[in-house]
Amino acid sequence: MMAPGAAPAILSGFGFAVRGFARAAAVASRSPGVSVRLIDSFNKELVDDIFAHALKKQTGVSLKYMLDFGQNPIERQMLLSAQFLHKELPVRLAHRVAELENLPYGLSAKKAILQVRDWYVESFRDLRSFPAVKDINDEMKFTEMLRHVYRRHANAVPVMAKGVSELREELRARQQLTELPEIHQFLDGFYLSRIGIRILIGQHIALHEPPKSNHIGLICTRCSPVMVAQDAINDARSICMREYGDAPEVSVYGSPDFTFPYVPSHLHHMLFELVKNSLRAVQDRFADSDDPAPPIRLVVAEGGEDVTLKVSDEGGGIPRSGLANIWTYLYSTAKSPVDPRHVDDADSGPVVLAGYGYGLPISRLYARYFGGDLQIISMEGYGTDAYLHLNRLGTSQEPLP
Ligand SMILES: Nc1ncnc2c1ncn2[C@@H]1O[C@H](COP(=O)(O)OP(=O)(O)OP(=O)(O)O)[C@@H](O)[C@H]1O
Ligand SMILES: [Mg+2]
Repeated sequence: MMAPGAAPAILSGFGFAVRGFARAAAVASRSPGVSVRLIDSFNKELVDDIFAHALKKQTGVSLKYMLDFGQNPIERQMLLSAQFLHKELPVRLAHRVAELENLPYGLSAKKAILQVRDWYVESFRDLRSFPAVKDINDEMKFTEMLRHVYRRHANAVPVMAKGVSELREELRARQQLTELPEIHQFLDGFYLSRIGIRILIGQHIALHEPPKSNHIGLICTRCSPVMVAQDAINDARSICMREYGDAPEVSVYGSPDFTFPYVPSHLHHMLFELVKNSLRAVQDRFADSDDPAPPIRLVVAEGGEDVTLKVSDEGGGIPRSGLANIWTYLYSTAKSPVDPRHVDDADSGPVVLAGYGYGLPISRLYARYFGGDLQIISMEGYGTDAYLHLNRLGTSQEPLP
């Protein structure tokens, strides 16, 4: 049973293929009476503090640092971690608020975007008003506050997506079809930063939980790509079953005993998205065929520098001219079962992400966050190979937009 108001998870996204290369004129679609500038909603002192922090440099960490640091989470370490977050998070949040305040095409004035901006401001305020973390008592309270911040931002991705899809609809209606490269670039940076913020907070919180074997906080020191792949395949296939009444097979090549340190939830997310895409492509191509659907192949390669996972399908591939589009947040060839204008109000509960054409761009950000990458190679008329490279040394610094 699904929660009331939740849309079903779906295999693919909105069918608004954004073609045309004309640059749209600025569209400032502001609802009358809605305060759109920060200064209209918050006091000047806070706004000045945000912009002062937005000028400060963000400090990155690496997977290896997180592993070393969380190895032995004694009180002193937790205190240091809290002090680092107390200083670092307001800087990262302020960068995002400043960006959200100044988006082109009137995007900053969309209700959904304002909602997200306000979450960032509230979290900034919570952190800045928290006194210096001096002892373990302060640290406990600080961690409680972080839990609250973490929960506050849970829906940021779909709510942002809602704002962006509204803009896309508006531009379509005005025949101002455009690729909106600035918006795409902003979203890449915004979501990448969000991954970073959530992993830092998530790691700190997880170190407070009872220790789990082979885990250092969120990082599994013995993460098995084959096992994670099996889970992701099961989840993706059951959605496919629900939507199509059938699902192609997925064969996995690799040893379940091979492990390396990684964040399993990130790996699951990426593989789930890739397998969903392949299932849809194969299912669509072979739906009316007398031939049986060829299995999707998931190969795990164990390199010295990278662990690479390949998801190969015979779903017909992607035309070369369309390849660049698959990485944008505005592109999907799928028919949408969800109309963005009728998705729940930004402030009235969860909105489901699936169906926004976000699968690939977000997965690539997850890969890049820890120094990996995602590539798609297609043979039109045959199928698609997705190569997911994961850096196994974990020494690369966080990319910070
Ligand atoms: N394996 C594949 N075979 C054929 N086309 C693909 C494949 N993977 C991706 N695509 C194309 O790339 C587009 C974008 O993929 P992406 O996963 O980002 O979004 P989506 O699947 O449309 O929606 P979402 O994943 O957000 O539910 C798809 O709509 C599809 O046209
Ligand atoms: Mg997808």
